[in-house]
Amino acid sequence: MAKDYNLFVPESKEILSNAGETVINRRQFLRYGFNAATGVLAASLGVLGFAAILLPPGGGSAGDLSVKFWAKGREDTAWYGAKHLQSMTKEDFVAEAANSNTGTSGASGVWNGVPVVVTYVEDSKWQGSPTDNNKARFQMMEGYDESGKYIGHFEDMVAMDERIYPSDDLIMVFGRCTHLCCIPGWQLVSNNYTDDSWTPGGTDDGGTKLFCICHSSRFDTTALEMNTNRNRSNGATFTYAGVRKAGGPAPVGLPLIPIELNNGVVEGITDYVDWLTYCD
Ligand code: FES
Repeated sequence: MAKDYNLFVPESKEILSNAGETVINRRQFLRYGFNAATGVLAASLGVLGFAAILLPPGGGSAGDLSVKFWAKGREDTAWYGAKHLQSMTKEDFVAEAANSNTGTSGASGVWNGVPVVVTYVEDSKWQGSPTDNNKARFQMMEGYDESGKYIGHFEDMVAMDERIYPSDDLIMVFGRCTHLCCIPGWQLVSNNYTDDSWTPGGTDDGGTKLFCICHSSRFDTTALEMNTNRNRSNGATFTYAGVRKAGGPAPVGLPLIPIELNNGVVEGITDYVDWLTYCD
């Protein structure tokens, strides 16, 4: 039986309604959210595999490494609805974050043919300030795998490659849930962990979570950690840098795809294909 959620447009807190109703179920949500693209993406990626379609370092023939907004089905509701398939810029996120209590903004996107979510956090403005001021900042954290085994600290991975550190107050994560590979959307729902609020620790206590509509996994895109996951093709365990799972059935968090700015445009770095292989 479908579970009902009160879904809100993050930027306006307006309730999405269907035929005059204020509560919509998961089936109806699919009409509004980024998940509407799941069928198309899964059909193509299921044949090719994510790793196969990622461009090699340096880009493919087109050489376009920019990240594009993806607002299909949400053109009238998402703050980036009018920018569907346009390249993301830092200024887009800075402007939207000004409407948030927490100084954050997030958007679904597509990069190199794969779904991604980009989050802006006013980290450079609030890092070092008291954590009870409801202003989000990135948190470098220790990582534990799904069995509770200590894996390491996020900074350990930064020491190996400093490009993993958030670039210009922005991060990008692979947009497929580590539970069953659904494509979550940046959605706020009427639960306490999705208010426009922030608390430290990468837990469910604060809002502004990345929410997977499939089975309600939540991810804190400010909590950066080192963790492990498995390659579903060959079973090999790999270590990755990512954001922390805050709740729900997902075993671990979502991997980062390091980014850089090119004249203000968000571009992904293609060195981390192996991190995306938990979905085949
Ligand atoms: S696929 Fe995301 S919670 Fe199940």
